[in-house]
Amino acid sequence: MHRRLVISVAVSALCGAMLAGTAAPASAAAPAAVDCRKVKCVALTFDDGPVADTQRLLRTLNDRNVKATFYVVGKNVQRYPSTVRSTASAGHQIGNHSWDHADLTRLSAAQIKSQFSRADTAIKQATGKKPTTVRAPYGAHNAAVRQAAARPLVHWSVDTLDWKYRDSARIINTVKTQTKPGDIVLLHDIHKTTVNAVPGIIQALKARGFHFVTVDQLFAPAKLPAGKVTYHNRAAYRP
Ligand code: NI
Repeated sequence: MHRRLVISVAVSALCGAMLAGTAAPASAAAPAAVDCRKVKCVALTFDDGPVADTQRLLRTLNDRNVKATFYVVGKNVQRYPSTVRSTASAGHQIGNHSWDHADLTRLSAAQIKSQFSRADTAIKQATGKKPTTVRAPYGAHNAAVRQAAARPLVHWSVDTLDWKYRDSARIINTVKTQTKPGDIVLLHDIHKTTVNAVPGIIQALKARGFHFVTVDQLFAPAKLPAGKVTYHNRAAYRP
């Protein structure tokens, strides 16, 4: 499914700690008051980053007042803490996508726990908050993974296959034709072709009357319970 990430990291923990102590701008964080029980909503999700190009994606989203959710990899958070901090302070949601994108179903319970906790620590150091949802790399999970996550596992209902087809027009067309109200769209900001597709995705879904929300906003006012099932879209969720 997703390409495995092999990225070496050399960033001091001190850097993240200093950034975490800096006040975030308050004005950008207010979420739009959208009730997804009443209007058409979609949650765009961007996985496996951050990378340098995530800043370009943030400009695209913020210029259009579109909120999204980022399932970040802990190692990359350690490398780009200020990107994760500005993502969160712009009102986007940050989720835990493990420390180094391992297939968690192949690891011991202790290793799984470490994958989540190391990523939590890096995210908390960057943003001041522990993420409230997780997404298993490759969508691969079992009882041990769900138990270690101790939070809802949020996966997706529209798979763009953007990692496979590096073609912006194809990605836009997939999202445009497949997205239904309440869907969660899987994208990867580690691919330039995906970042290039985002203006077209937003334009196409806005034309269909969609509101762009974070994962938490998509399910609100419900709070998802942890550990038993995964969540792919709003329509499939029965409280
Ligand atoms: Ni991934």
